[in-house]
Order: sequence, then structure tokens, then C-alpha cells
Amino acid sequence: MESFEKAFLGASGVVLAVFLCALAYSTAGMSIHLPSSAGQIYCTSAQRLRKVLRKTPPFDNPGVREVAPGKYEAVVIGQTWAFTPDEIDLPAGADVTFIATSADVVHGFLIPGTSVNMMLIPGEISKFNYRFRKPGEYILICHEYCGVLHHTMYSKVIVK
Ligand code: CUA
Repeated sequence: MESFEKAFLGASGVVLAVFLCALAYSTAGMSIHLPSSAGQIYCTSAQRLRKVLRKTPPFDNPGVREVAPGKYEAVVIGQTWAFTPDEIDLPAGADVTFIATSADVVHGFLIPGTSVNMMLIPGEISKFNYRFRKPGEYILICHEYCGVLHHTMYSKVIVK
């Protein structure tokens, strides 16, 4: 083996070791996890996950509800290639917690112009809190490639 080959092999090993250490440190030392510590939904296959979701609160009843004065909960399911519900209506100033998951593959959950940016992973519950101060029409888009009609996957957030 040439000496430069040995050097490259050695360097590759060092890079792998550094990445593994960084991964261990970020998870154990800095507590960085998937944006989904809100819970999990156990299921064995994508086919069954839709059925399980239909029976699992709060996903058995997607939509917006007021949980306290001015505080809302928006339960959203992402599936190829739509969000349920397809429109979220909120009053201006609403403090909303999005609780979302995917019924099939990985989807994105992004509302441009806000800090709402999540990944929806099948079987994982994602949660994010945001206050809509300004009235207007916001768009909720999927920003994780999820198949041929990925670009058509969106929903609206209407703040009045
Ligand atoms: Cu769902 Cu892209």
C-alpha cells in the first residue's frame, strides 16, 4: 500500500472518530435531540399508522381549539401530499402550539416569515409554540422532499 493511501485511510478514521465524538457530545452533553420530544406513536407499518392516528388523541380530531383565553392548540397531520386541516384560522395575537405528526413519510412544516420550522417524522410528535401578532394570510408549506407532488403540499394559516 502506498504511503499516501495509508495517510488517507488514517485521516478518514480520524474524521469518523471526531464525528462520533461530536454526535455523542451533542446528544449526551448538550441534550440536542430530534425536534420531537413531545412523544411518539407506536406502529409497525405506514399502512397502519394512518389507522392508528385516526384513533390516537389529539390526532383523532385535527384542527384548532382554544385551550385557555388567547391560547390555542393546532393539531395538524401531514400526509402525502396535504396537511389536515387545510386551513387554520386564528385571531391576531393568538399564542398557538402546533402539535403535528406525519401519517406516512417525512414531511416538513414551515411557515415562512415566522420561526415555525419543524420536521414531521412518522410516529414522532412535533410541537412548536408561536404567537401570531400581525393579522394576515400565512402559508404552511412542506419543505422536506416527500414525493412527486411535494410542491403541492401546503396549507394556510389565516390570522384575523
Ligand atoms: Cu410533504 Cu414535501
